[in-house]
Amino acid sequence: FRVNWDLAVAEKDGFDHFMLKEIHEQPRAYRDTIGNRLLGAYPWVHLPELTLTPERIRLFRRVHIVACGTAYHAGLVGKQALERWARIPAEADVASEYRYRSPLVAEDTLVIVVSQSGETADTLAALREAKRQGAHVIAITNVVGSSVAREADDVLFTMAGPEISVASTKAYSTQLLAFYILALHMARARRSLPDEEFAPIVEALRKLPEQAEQALKQAEEIRSYAEEISHHRHLFFLGRGMDYAVAQEGSLKLKEISYIHSEAYAAGELKHGTLALIEEGTPVVALATQPELYEKTVSNIREVMARGATVLGIASPSGSRGDANLASRVDRVLTIPDTHPMLTPALSVIPLQLLAYYASTALGYDVDKPRNLAKSVTVE
Ligand code: G6P
Repeated sequence: FRVNWDLAVAEKDGFDHFMLKEIHEQPRAYRDTIGNRLLGAYPWVHLPELTLTPERIRLFRRVHIVACGTAYHAGLVGKQALERWARIPAEADVASEYRYRSPLVAEDTLVIVVSQSGETADTLAALREAKRQGAHVIAITNVVGSSVAREADDVLFTMAGPEISVASTKAYSTQLLAFYILALHMARARRSLPDEEFAPIVEALRKLPEQAEQALKQAEEIRSYAEEISHHRHLFFLGRGMDYAVAQEGSLKLKEISYIHSEAYAAGELKHGTLALIEEGTPVVALATQPELYEKTVSNIREVMARGATVLGIASPSGSRGDANLASRVDRVLTIPDTHPMLTPALSVIPLQLLAYYASTALGYDVDKPRNLAKSVTVE
């Protein structure tokens, strides 16, 4: 009796690549990262793993978020959540810059290092330097027992499960969730967010796993768009606020595995230079999910379309301020499920991950092992 099976195929659960499998694991990963942390009613957020007391949280004067690559992009979202909800000044830096720029760190500084592997050399060095200068360090990481997890004062584990593909997907999105939960926890301690604003955010977070499942259903549409753009050499991602943060991750994903050059731009900054690169047929992915910024982003979309760009809009139902017309303004629209404006990155990143994936497969590249890149960078 012989069983014929291929270990690699079995591990991929029938998906062609680890990346696609990991993209599809996000609803499950969201459920696990939320876990018991958002159970029940008031006070809604539970992080018993943190040693930090509410008193200590109130004493912090600033937050430094330090990470590399995709984890840094999660930090850009985390910064906005911490500032908006916990009302604490926060900055995000790439670790290789942070450690050499004499950052102003003291005991009133909370340093949050973000690392999927927990072994990235620059991130670990930044952690050590921050600790040496007296900061309290929280690690957001996916790997139990990793160097970063062992050396930080506190650890928040993302429950993404093992990530094999070099291009990070579920690690990024669960880092976002960890940031949201931490920012709410700090907001509670700092009494900076009224209950009537707090409760709807928790509600919206609890819906994300199911909504991530819905977002995955647009795969076929994205595949056909990806095939079209795969013949282009340049592409632009535009957005404002949370949309700009997630645009940077979408652009990195595309570069990593399809080798198509792309740039993410803050939509309002476009006219200060990048607009010169838009010509007939240039593909632009424009994210317009933020109600407060919708009109401004639409006017930037008009600017690129007037110069011949073909635009894929990414919208959210309540992000368009009742304007059902983004579809008539651009060449195509994808709509993400409706959520709180601060949480849109956890859903809008899904079509961007799929776009990078399908562009790579359309071009016949080895999706899981892109040229020149490593999953974990343990040298400087
Ligand atoms: C490498 C990987 C990226 C990752 C970065 C940081 O460049 O290819 O996907 O974002 O390292 O890795 P970390 O494990 O610290 O999150």
